[in-house]
Amino acid sequence: MLPSIQNRRSVFPQFFTEQTVAKDIIQELLEAANMAPSHKKTEPWRFWVYTGAGREKLIQEVQDVYEGARAPEVRDPKVVPKFAKKIEQAPVVIAVFLHRDPAEGVPEWEEVAAVGCAVENLWISLDHYGLGGYWSSPGFLCGGYGQWPDAAMNERCLGLFYLGHYEMPDLPRPRGPLAEKVTWVEE
Ligand SMILES: Cc1cc2nc3c(=O)[nH]c(=O)nc-3n(C[C@H](O)[C@H](O)[C@H](O)COP(=O)(O)O)c2cc1C
Repeated sequence: MLPSIQNRRSVFPQFFTEQTVAKDIIQELLEAANMAPSHKKTEPWRFWVYTGAGREKLIQEVQDVYEGARAPEVRDPKVVPKFAKKIEQAPVVIAVFLHRDPAEGVPEWEEVAAVGCAVENLWISLDHYGLGGYWSSPGFLCGGYGQWPDAAMNERCLGLFYLGHYEMPDLPRPRGPLAEKVTWVEE
């Protein structure tokens, strides 16, 4: 197996160090994401990159989205502070968006899959730079089109990708048997 695939893992914000991530490295990661495949080359991935003081804006946006998604009587006062803490622990947070093809020339699932390919490209690139990260997809953030402040009406958030340098124990990542997931047809 390729080492970049073997070494890809979810690294959670509590394991990030305070070391900042150079902007040219973030740019390289995004270039890798941008090489993802997409049907009819719609290239539906969009990324909003929050670093430094920009993360305060993200916390505000998360709060706005949460309040837009949940009526006051069902809001949990612990939710926004929980996300604020994770955002503050991560030197870089990338909000991942699906930019739906305005012509809807391909089904939505194909564009969601293409965004997944883009995120995986970024994710498997992290190891090369000594970085770790993970994709967080809380339901309230991954709602409908136009729900995110300042996002276009054909854009929906597909989660937050947290990344940074890290110190974390090398935890096992078991997978179920491949044999249960593969059907060989040989004759
Ligand atoms: C589309 C997608 C959404 C995910 N959302 C979450 C999430 O909301 N919370 C979380 O803890 N992990 C999330 N993950 C990470 C998975 O939990 C993680 O990849 C899985 O446990 C396997 O661990 P590994 O990445 O270390 O191999 C998500 C992964 C994917 C691909």
